[in-house]
Amino acid sequence: MCGIVGYIGKQQAYPILIKGLQRLEYRGYDSAGIALIHDGKLNVYKAKGKVADLVQFASQKDISGNIGIAHTRWATHGEPNLVNAHPHYSQSEELAIIHNGIIENYALLKEGLIKEGYTFHSETDTEVLVQLIEYVKKSNGVDLTSAVQLALNQVIGAYAICVIEKSFPDVIVAARKGSPLVVGIGIDEFFLASDATPIVEYTDQVVYVGDEEIVTLQRGKSIEIKTIANVQKTPEIKKLEMTISQLEKGGYPHFMIKEIFEQPKTLSDSMRGRVSIDEKSIKLSGFIDNKEKFLNAKRIIITACGTSWHAGLIGKYAFEEFARIPVEVEYSSEFRYRNPVINEQDLVIPISQSGETADTLAAVELAKSKGAFIFGICNVVGASIPRMTHSGCYTHAGPEIGVASTKAFTAQVTVLLMLALLIGKEKGTITNAFYEKCVEELANIPNKIKRILEQNETISQFAKTFTYAQNFIYLGRGYNFPVALEGALKLKEISYIHAEGYPAAEMKHGPIALISQEMPVVVIATKAGMYEKVVSNIQEIKARKGKIISIVTEGDVVVKNLSDYSISIPDTEECFVPLLAAIPLQLMAYHIAVVKGCNVDQPRNLAKSVTVE
Ligand code: F6R
Repeated sequence: MCGIVGYIGKQQAYPILIKGLQRLEYRGYDSAGIALIHDGKLNVYKAKGKVADLVQFASQKDISGNIGIAHTRWATHGEPNLVNAHPHYSQSEELAIIHNGIIENYALLKEGLIKEGYTFHSETDTEVLVQLIEYVKKSNGVDLTSAVQLALNQVIGAYAICVIEKSFPDVIVAARKGSPLVVGIGIDEFFLASDATPIVEYTDQVVYVGDEEIVTLQRGKSIEIKTIANVQKTPEIKKLEMTISQLEKGGYPHFMIKEIFEQPKTLSDSMRGRVSIDEKSIKLSGFIDNKEKFLNAKRIIITACGTSWHAGLIGKYAFEEFARIPVEVEYSSEFRYRNPVINEQDLVIPISQSGETADTLAAVELAKSKGAFIFGICNVVGASIPRMTHSGCYTHAGPEIGVASTKAFTAQVTVLLMLALLIGKEKGTITNAFYEKCVEELANIPNKIKRILEQNETISQFAKTFTYAQNFIYLGRGYNFPVALEGALKLKEISYIHAEGYPAAEMKHGPIALISQEMPVVVIATKAGMYEKVVSNIQEIKARKGKIISIVTEGDVVVKNLSDYSISIPDTEECFVPLLAAIPLQLMAYHIAVVKGCNVDQPRNLAKSVTVE
C-alpha cells in the first residue's frame, strides 16, 4: 500500500508534499517521511506515526527546496519504526528513494550488495533497491535514469518508486510495476503521486504511468518515458475528472459519514446516462460493445476481495436469477493460486474500488492468460485493473477516502444489477414488463436512500447501547445474506468488535450456540425475500434471549414487535433491497465506532488500497 508523492518545479515543495501525503494517508499511516534537496544538501526527515507527526518533527528543520519526495507507509518489510520509514538514503547519501510495493528478491540482492561493501540500516526491501541503484550507477558510470533502468531489470516484485539525487537537483526519476503512479503536468513543474488526489489542486493534466515504465521529470524539459526494456514511449496526457470538493469533508466530522450521506448522489451518478426512465431502458456501453461475449458466456466468474467480494455475491444472485448464467464468486487471493479451470467462454468480472488490489490484479492476469473475456467494475478511473481489462464499467462513486468502503459498495451493486437486468432482457430470460418495472424502481432508489438517512439520529442513539458488545451476529437470506456479511465487516473493521455474518437459516447449524442475552443479532428481515422464514429464525433467537436489531420494511409490525431495536427501510424489488439495507448497517457501524472513540477513517492495521498480496 503506502502513498508516494513527488514535486519538482518553481514552488516550495514541502507544503505540496505534506498536503499530498495527507490526501494519501488512507493508503497507510504507520510512518511518514520526506526528502528535499536544497543548497547542495539532501535532507531526509521521518516520523513514526501519521503525517501530523512528521509535520511536527519537521517544524524545527530546514524545509526549503523546490524538489522533493514524500511517503506515507503501510508496513510490509520491517516493523513500523523510524529506521524503516521512507525515504531511504543510499550508502553515500547521494540518492534518496520512496517506494510502494514489495521487492520479492530483495534478500538475494542484499546479499550481493553486502559482498560489495554495502551496509544496511533498515529491514526494508526499499533500502536494498536504493543501494542497488547506487551500485549500478557507480559501476556503470551512468545517469540516474539509466541506473534505475538497469537496477529494475534485476528486480522481481511490485513497485512504484521515486528517486532523487543530491548532485542533480533538477531531476526526479520514477518508475512503476504493479503499484500505481500518476504524473501531474503543470507549467514548468511536475507532480507525482500514487493517485491523482494530491495533484488535482494544481493541474488537471495527468499521465498514468504504465507498467514497467520509467519516467524522467527534468526542470525545463518535457516528461520523458521509456520502458525498463529501453523502449521510448510517447506520454499520453489525460484530463482529470475530479474536483477538490470531492476530497474534502464538507462539514462532516469524518469521510466515512460524508460518503454514507453521499450515496443518493453517487448512485444517481452511477446511473447517469445509463438508466433512462423515458425509454425505460438501461444502456451500458461496455455491454453494447461486447454483447455477444455476454450473451454467449457459459459461466461468469466474479473475482474480488473484501467489500467488493460481497458486492460480487449480490451480483451472483442477480446474474443467476435474471440472466440464467451460472456464476462463481471467487476471493481473488484464492483464485489466483489454485489453478482454476478457466476457458475462452468464461466471462470474468473483477470488482475493485481502487482498481489496484494486488490479488485482484493477479486474478485478472491469470484469467486473461487463459483466454477469458475480462469485464472490470472499478471506481478509480485509470487504475491498473481497468487498464488491464478488455472492457468494463466505472462505478462513478467519486473518490472514496474513508478506509471502510460504503458508497463504492452500493455503486458496485448498482452496476452489477444494471448488467444482470440488461443481459436478462437481451437473452429474454426476464420479461419486458419486469425489466421496465426494475428500471423505474432503480431510478427511485436514491430517494429511498434519502429517507433512510433521515433516521441517522435514531441510529446514532441506539448505537450507544451496543458499545459494550464484544461480538455481533448479522443474519440475512437471499440477496440479504451478502448484506449481512458486509454489515459485519463494516462493524469489525472500524469498531474492532468481532462480528460474523451468516445466512439466517445456518444459525441452527452451529452459531446459535453463541446466542445469549449478551449477544446482539442484526437481522435483515425485509418483506421482499423469504420474510416468513426469517421471522422463524428471529423467533429462534428470541427464544434464546438474543438482543435483536432488525432491518424491516416500512409498515412492518411483526418483526418490529419481536425486536429490541428496529430500522425501517422503504419497500422495493427484492434485488434492490441490498442497496437500501446496507445504509442503516453502515450508519450503525459508524456510530458504534465513533462512540467507542475509534478512528473510523483510518482504522488500525488497515489501508485503503491493498497493493500487496
Ligand atoms: C472494507 C474494504 C475492503 C476492500 C478490499 C478490496 O471496507 O474496503 O475490504 O473492499 O480491500 O478493495 P478494492 O475494492 O479496492 O479492490
